[in-house]
Amino acid sequence: MSAAPASQTHPGALDPRAANIAYHDWQAAEYDDKWGISFDDRCQSYAVDRYRRVAPIAEWPRGRVLEIGAGTGFLLLNLMRAGLTQQGVVTDISAGMVAHATGSAARLGLTVTGQVCDVTALGLRTASVDVVIGHAVLHHVPDVEAALREIVRVLRPGGRFVILGEPNERGERIVRRLCRMTWSVVTAVVSLPPLRRRWARPTATLDPAAALESVVDLHTFRPQALADLARRAGAVDVGTATVEATAAWFGWPVRTLEAAVHPDRLGWRWANFAYRGWRALEAVDRCLAPVLPAELHYAVALTGRAPAGVVDPAGVVDPAGPGR
Ligand SMILES: C[S@@+](CC[C@H](N)C(=O)[O-])C[C@H]1O[C@@H](n2cnc3c(N)ncnc32)[C@H](O)[C@@H]1O
Repeated sequence: MSAAPASQTHPGALDPRAANIAYHDWQAAEYDDKWGISFDDRCQSYAVDRYRRVAPIAEWPRGRVLEIGAGTGFLLLNLMRAGLTQQGVVTDISAGMVAHATGSAARLGLTVTGQVCDVTALGLRTASVDVVIGHAVLHHVPDVEAALREIVRVLRPGGRFVILGEPNERGERIVRRLCRMTWSVVTAVVSLPPLRRRWARPTATLDPAAALESVVDLHTFRPQALADLARRAGAVDVGTATVEATAAWFGWPVRTLEAAVHPDRLGWRWANFAYRGWRALEAVDRCLAPVLPAELHYAVALTGRAPAGVVDPAGVVDPAGPGR
């Protein structure tokens, strides 16, 4: 992991776009470990499940799938392994992330190309993609409507986009509060003299890029407002779904605790407890879903389509379609 120069990473010194590039380039090498990303049954079934919750699996696409803000390729690579498509494109504003994602795809034997670009300027021909997917990306983008407009532009007429894992305004606030409380309690306990030596996390010299974490998260969303943005951007058949309540109230504080204590102290038993606990609460959340207010869920997913129409030779979609 290489350190970004401090002059480029002072939180106040960068616009959000530059901050995102610096922060995610810095994160790329250890991103999979940090977030428990793998390309196996566990992450594959998570990705398929999240996709299914907002978009009909019956239209499982086979064509050209583009991922925006792909990071290390968590969503596209896992969906490809599940049979979503045979050819994909990962795009991200961070060159480090794109290199990592295409490297993983090559190791997995998947046909994936990579492109470094901003989601608001994808550099692809109009109506050239069958499906656009994304996970946890829109909340980093300064102009979300411009991003959605660009997604609609590159989709073929009637093509679908599916954006998962965006923070839901109220649900995210609850989780943030729980994490703050967890951090205060755990750091206070592990700094007690009998515990400090073994349990406190060593205060390693922090990379200046770490300070950008607080600068790169720009938005949380209300589902209805997000859907309205998508419609304003030209999408049709727009829908949203919210997921994870108790699982997030457990999972995020667990991650916070892990970040607060010495990395060598919590062994596989803890990891097992954390994963099984999260799985069990996911099941609880499914049962509660019909009665739990949507705003309490932690994450919101958005889907929609490019309007059906015809593409003229200049690559411009005529939304009225044939017969106008
Ligand atoms: C939270 S990470 C999610 C990565 C990946 N989708 C995942 O779920 O593991 C957000 C990603 O969005 C990218 N990103 C941020 N702003 C962007 C923009 N304006 N255009 C394209 N990608 C962007 C970041 O570089 C980063 O890789």
